[in-house]
Amino acid sequence: MSILLSNGKEIPIEMHKIRIVQRVRLAPAAERLQAMEKAGYNTFMLRSRDIFLDMLTDSGTNAMTDLQQAAMMQADDAYAGSESFYRLTDAVEDVFGYKYVLPVHQGRAAEHLLAKTFIKPGQVVPMNYHFTTTRAHFELVGGTVLELYADEALNTQSSHPFKGNIDLARLKECIDKYGAEKISFVRMEATTNLLGGQPYSMENLKAIKAMIEPLGIFLLIDGSLISENAYLIKQREAGYADKSIKEIIREMMEIADILYLSARKSCSVRGGMIATNRKDLHDAIRPWLPVYEGFFTYGGMSSREIEAMAVGMREMTELEVAGSAADAIKYFVNRCVEEGIPVVTPPGGLACHVDARRMIPHVPQSQYPAGAMSAAIYIAAGIRTMERGSVSMDRDREGNDVPSDLELCRLAVPRRIFTMSHYEYAVDRLKWIKANADLIGGLVFFEEPPVLRFFAGLMKPLGGWGQKLAAKFAQDFGPNC
Ligand code: F0G
Repeated sequence: MSILLSNGKEIPIEMHKIRIVQRVRLAPAAERLQAMEKAGYNTFMLRSRDIFLDMLTDSGTNAMTDLQQAAMMQADDAYAGSESFYRLTDAVEDVFGYKYVLPVHQGRAAEHLLAKTFIKPGQVVPMNYHFTTTRAHFELVGGTVLELYADEALNTQSSHPFKGNIDLARLKECIDKYGAEKISFVRMEATTNLLGGQPYSMENLKAIKAMIEPLGIFLLIDGSLISENAYLIKQREAGYADKSIKEIIREMMEIADILYLSARKSCSVRGGMIATNRKDLHDAIRPWLPVYEGFFTYGGMSSREIEAMAVGMREMTELEVAGSAADAIKYFVNRCVEEGIPVVTPPGGLACHVDARRMIPHVPQSQYPAGAMSAAIYIAAGIRTMERGSVSMDRDREGNDVPSDLELCRLAVPRRIFTMSHYEYAVDRLKWIKANADLIGGLVFFEEPPVLRFFAGLMKPLGGWGQKLAAKFAQDFGPNC
């Protein structure tokens, strides 16, 4: 929710009270430098105790509600036929209108099952944009990911409301080129993560479906951030202002054939699922569920999480919940723009994304500017962010680095975790970093895993710039900041 102040300014407003808190500590810059050095300039390798504001991700880090926590107490731990599962299926039917539910331990487990079931070697999978784990799973089974976004999607200074749309002319070309039999399915990701949390429109979804349905190609939605996408449709698409979040989600689901999601995001728990009304799709996946995840009625999740997921799923359709992160992001992004910090616009549904190419233009892409930006933000502010650039791209089959379309550094906004003063602090430190951008250099790998290297790869700062940045920070703010 946002609220209008008497001076005409809009601010995000919390529609909840905070009754349980967890302490954080702001270690001084010299300590932060040491922690970053130890972590190999990879924010995934930091220890939580060394972090002031953890903006790495919104995955599994949203604040749960009292009702979610209460629901956990009624968990039914029956190995088979658990009542918790049936409470989840009731919620799925109510929120999405889908009757078949396959629970999985998290989003990538759904991707694994979908890839194994539907992607044959040599097939292609058109989509608005890949997510890291999606690409890894789809390529591991021999598929090729085709990203059919419009050119505007890569413009980080845009006002286009739906940069997560598929370019319909490109989809048509793709179908003409490969033919329906070579296309596994079309995947649409809600608030497209790696494009900066940008939504798709309902109009686009309808047009895609109209194009692929007659050819027997099915439409898959990655709904990890489905309520945020629905919220942005309500705000931005003509004809949706008066519709409820639930009505908008239901409309999307009527268009799509099958949905999967990481429940770690919009549902504010730790889990995932695949759901559909198509018996043929459900029956094709189902045999693999107990092989890779767990029995049909828990699929690798604890019953407690399943109970909380059922509640979180219903709660995400409430306007205040669906908009809680999106409105904070809008404020955070707009404040950055006001201060001249280059961030992705328009604001999306996931994070505030710093455009490292514009922030440190002197660092070439081969030296991972987004990775360097992420390390610099930790050193200067104690804020943990996530690299979403070339470090997040694995090497191609020949072992060459694959330059990313965008070099973004993501300051994720988990729901109900941060307050306005946290965002203001972040904006202030980003401003300082921009003013001292010339001190920041590139990175080079010294340890590099073969798959999803961004998780555990270790890097060094070229020319030892980390030390110089920490020293300048201590000089400007004193040794204890
Ligand atoms: N799809 C999308 C759009 C995601 O954002 C994620 C995870 C996944 C699938 C995989 O789900 O983590 O539950 O296995 N995104 C997290 C993030 C990791 O930080 O953005 P998972």
